[in-house]
Amino acid sequence: MSGNYAIAVIGAGGKMGMRVSNNLARTDHDVRYVENSPAGRERTVDAGRELTDGPAAVADADIVVLAVPDLALGAVTAELVPQMKSGAVCLTLDPAAAYAGLLTERDDVVQAVAHPCHPSIFLQRETPEQWADTFGGIAAPQDAIAAVESDDPAAKTLVEETVRAIYAPVIDVHFVTIKQLAQLEPTLVETVACMIGELLNEALHETVHTMGVPEAAARSILHGHTQVALANGLRGDNPFSDACLIAMKYGRESIIKEDWKKIFQDDELDKNLARMLHLDTITR
Ligand SMILES: NC(=O)c1ccc[n+]([C@@H]2O[C@H](COP(=O)([O-])OP(=O)(O)OC[C@H]3O[C@@H](n4cnc5c(N)ncnc54)[C@H](O)[C@@H]3O)[C@@H](O)[C@H]2O)c1
Repeated sequence: MSGNYAIAVIGAGGKMGMRVSNNLARTDHDVRYVENSPAGRERTVDAGRELTDGPAAVADADIVVLAVPDLALGAVTAELVPQMKSGAVCLTLDPAAAYAGLLTERDDVVQAVAHPCHPSIFLQRETPEQWADTFGGIAAPQDAIAAVESDDPAAKTLVEETVRAIYAPVIDVHFVTIKQLAQLEPTLVETVACMIGELLNEALHETVHTMGVPEAAARSILHGHTQVALANGLRGDNPFSDACLIAMKYGRESIIKEDWKKIFQDDELDKNLARMLHLDTITR
């Protein structure tokens, strides 16, 4: 299976819905846009797109892209999955709800999840538009991760082509399991990387407001050293200096808890996801 598909976007006026729809509108796919909030409906119409009702949009869709909040996915799939055609794909944009077993499933509907990687910090950017596109999906090429709960090669092709369209421009689509996608996001990238990004900003604030260093100087040295820290730490571009290694050891002893690697255990992943989905526990 390859070519033009019938694609339904549910939540078309939301943050991801608008990104996904902007890209799909540039393709030859037959796209239906569904949105239930007044503000989302207005955004969809203002972008020049026609709204369709959910049941009509999914009835003959090859793939249904669920761009609704994770907390709404249980109710939305309960309503729409029974109305999908046999053999179609139900695609969510985050693994949490699928991993937690909150989605309505059907034997003849393929469950899939796809998440954008966002453009790499090491991407060789060539245009101002690529430099400005830190999120991806506009000008800067990015990879994407996909999980498809089916051995059918046609389902995998349908998901890959849809992912390449909604997150365009896409370099590679990496296929993993839904559990592995949940181990990547939230654990690797939100729990660790995004937390460190926020910590860097807090450290900048303390440097300026607690220690009294001029903000321009602090911001400038932090931004440059963040690049060095990531290039050396992630790619081994240069060795850290001996003095830096001593300061790094002090930082690790002062900031990191000894048992921090527990976040990579299954029971901790479940706790993390339960918090994100506002559940007491995850029962799969
Ligand atoms: N925001 C991000 O940066 C980002 C990145 C990657 C993946 N995601 C995932 O994308 C999905 C959507 O997140 P978001 O941040 O775009 O949410 P959002 O709140 O910005 O948008 C959700 C949209 O869905 C609409 N909606 C809710 N229920 C609906 C229904 N029954 N029928 C039609 N429309 C409905 C809402 O009105 C809203 O416009 C989530 O699974 C999220 O985890 C988000």
